[in-house]
Amino acid sequence: MGLLDTASPLDRQSSVPIFTQVKMVIHGAVDSGELQPHRRIPSERELSALFGVSRMTIRQALLEMIGDGVLYTRTGKGTYVADHKIEQPLQRLTSFTQDIGARGLRPSSRLLGADLLPAPIELAQALAIPSGSELVRVRRLRLADGEPLAIETSHLPHSLCPGLIEHDLERHSLYGLLHDRYGLELASAKQTIEAASPTEEERKLLEMPAGVPVLRIHRFTSTRDGVVCEFVQSAYRGDRYQLNVDLK
Ligand code: GLP
Repeated sequence: MGLLDTASPLDRQSSVPIFTQVKMVIHGAVDSGELQPHRRIPSERELSALFGVSRMTIRQALLEMIGDGVLYTRTGKGTYVADHKIEQPLQRLTSFTQDIGARGLRPSSRLLGADLLPAPIELAQALAIPSGSELVRVRRLRLADGEPLAIETSHLPHSLCPGLIEHDLERHSLYGLLHDRYGLELASAKQTIEAASPTEEERKLLEMPAGVPVLRIHRFTSTRDGVVCEFVQSAYRGDRYQLNVDLK
């Protein structure tokens, strides 16, 4: 393989652990574009022969690179180079459709559920609506170029968007509908982000390899007039998504 023909020999005198050096060589080939996204890398056995190190060392390097989202595995098929992570700047209030479209990928949705429910007390307080009043709940699997990326469950006061669930929520952007059909100008949001283990259901829906975390995001979105109109719980694939912030 080209990667390994050009790989610099490992420096066994160095204080840098051997598995880290293996990672650096594979990383270098991914960064230089020599190993393209979705290309299969050599097997553990081949890599161990090529680098002259144990399979345990190779496995440790590969497992870390899978955890970092640089590589991914397909059961029974081997280890592949992951696509670049999708970056989301946190300075601007954007929709999934905008984020994915801005990266030249095709956004799509699979509707997992849409219903009406009485607002539980805490959510009613946060949305400044009477407890027990109707909420619209929309649960969607979000995809980029057909690949599952996130599960999003949005809750909106029904009074702000009556009849929302009658719209085709697979074909339309939620924010697009809120703007075009209900005149809601979304202007700001408060968001919390934490890393977590996916639930079994999330792991299946997102087709995630074992050991990869999700980014759990909670967002309260407000209109230009300060009306809180959405509470969203999202789980994004931690190996496919990167959140960026510019600090000044
Ligand atoms: C982002 C936000 C969600 C929001 C969604 C709307 O993913 N994190 O809070 O519900 O965008 O996306 P769209 O307008 O594409 O349906």
